[in-house]
Amino acid sequence: MFQLTKRVAAIKAASNPLYSRRYKSWFADVKLAPPDPILGITEAFLKDKNPKKTNLGVGAYRDDDSKPWVLPSVKEAQNRVIAKNMNKEYAPIHGLADFYNKSVELALGKDSEILKNKCNATVQSLSGTGALRVGAAFLGLFWKGERVVYLPTPTWPNHKPIFMHSGLKVANYGYYDPNTRALNEQALFESLCKIPERSIVLLHACAHNPTGVDPNSEQWCEISHIMKSRHLYPFFDLAYLGFASGDIDRDAEAVRIFSAEGHQFALAQSYAKNMGLYGERVGSFTFVCSSKDEAERVTSNLKTIIRPMYSNPPVHGARIAIEIFKDEKLFCMWLDDLKTMATRTITMRKQLKETLVALGSKQSWDHITNQIGMFCYTGLKPEQVARLIKDYSIYMTKDGRIAVVGLTTKNVAYVAASIYAVTK
Ligand code: LMR
Repeated sequence: MFQLTKRVAAIKAASNPLYSRRYKSWFADVKLAPPDPILGITEAFLKDKNPKKTNLGVGAYRDDDSKPWVLPSVKEAQNRVIAKNMNKEYAPIHGLADFYNKSVELALGKDSEILKNKCNATVQSLSGTGALRVGAAFLGLFWKGERVVYLPTPTWPNHKPIFMHSGLKVANYGYYDPNTRALNEQALFESLCKIPERSIVLLHACAHNPTGVDPNSEQWCEISHIMKSRHLYPFFDLAYLGFASGDIDRDAEAVRIFSAEGHQFALAQSYAKNMGLYGERVGSFTFVCSSKDEAERVTSNLKTIIRPMYSNPPVHGARIAIEIFKDEKLFCMWLDDLKTMATRTITMRKQLKETLVALGSKQSWDHITNQIGMFCYTGLKPEQVARLIKDYSIYMTKDGRIAVVGLTTKNVAYVAASIYAVTK
């Protein structure tokens, strides 16, 4: 044993004995946090030994063999990236320009005046969550209006902490009607008319998560009018561009309606679902500004936010996306891949509904096919969800959301029979 120096011995003797006891552990007061409401389900699913187990929790596309699907266009793009034998240097803080410029163009359209006038402050982000987080952090620092972000009821559970961690408050606006399992138009418009002016409103640009219920074109126009006249700030979460309908322009409709009406807005984009680049963390974030000069100032501050957060984004996934963007043939191949995913998802919706009807279920399951995107908000009650998990090993979020993309021609009969058993 080494001897304490006189100096250390003196410090030890003088230190408060209460502290020594209290600081035996620095984190003794830290309580166990609950599992994530979505990603935690995968953890439970993986532990389950039932051979019939089915994971309809997380929104991650599967092929008809329940396997993750690497898009053929992505495979080809990745081969091209590897063949180039590029270096592994840092990307700029704001990411790869060939990626984020094309990304925002996909959302706003080739002829966008915003882009022509360079009024966009766009950066590469760590997928959709990272985009939301960077945008939220900027608003946390610079937003001069009401410091409240209004979220639809219900919304993706991660929205709330993302904005709260950025120093903003969150509140809700009416969106979904559990009785009709469709849009609650009245509650939506009434809420938008009541929200204090100059507040921030989070909008799911397409394929609303968790409900799969989107406003139609007319309703989007009305939302845009109300928000413009009431000086509400739109913050779009666009996580499913091209994935929802299989058509990029169609899925970008809401964003383009707002652009055409002259809104300034925030836009978070993700390539997790539409390119299947879940683990690569590829996305972009844009503020549509009032001028080129403002966009430059905003971009410079986005960089000062990103630098201490994660320094700069990863390059591999963005390089794959760039290969797809810049080669017309590969781009068309990607569009076909989008259609493949959208078509399989729509087919599974139909099969689930038809099987439930064929089993003799007296409930209406029309909402399964009326909703759009990755998810179906089934309307199953918490106790029915609990039974499905416990007795049938069919995993889903507690609110009854199922990832339709996890259904296959092989498991749909089992899932339908199990849902029928807990609902009859
Ligand atoms: C989901 O809602 O399941 C996906 O968006 C994955 C996630 O990160 O929550």
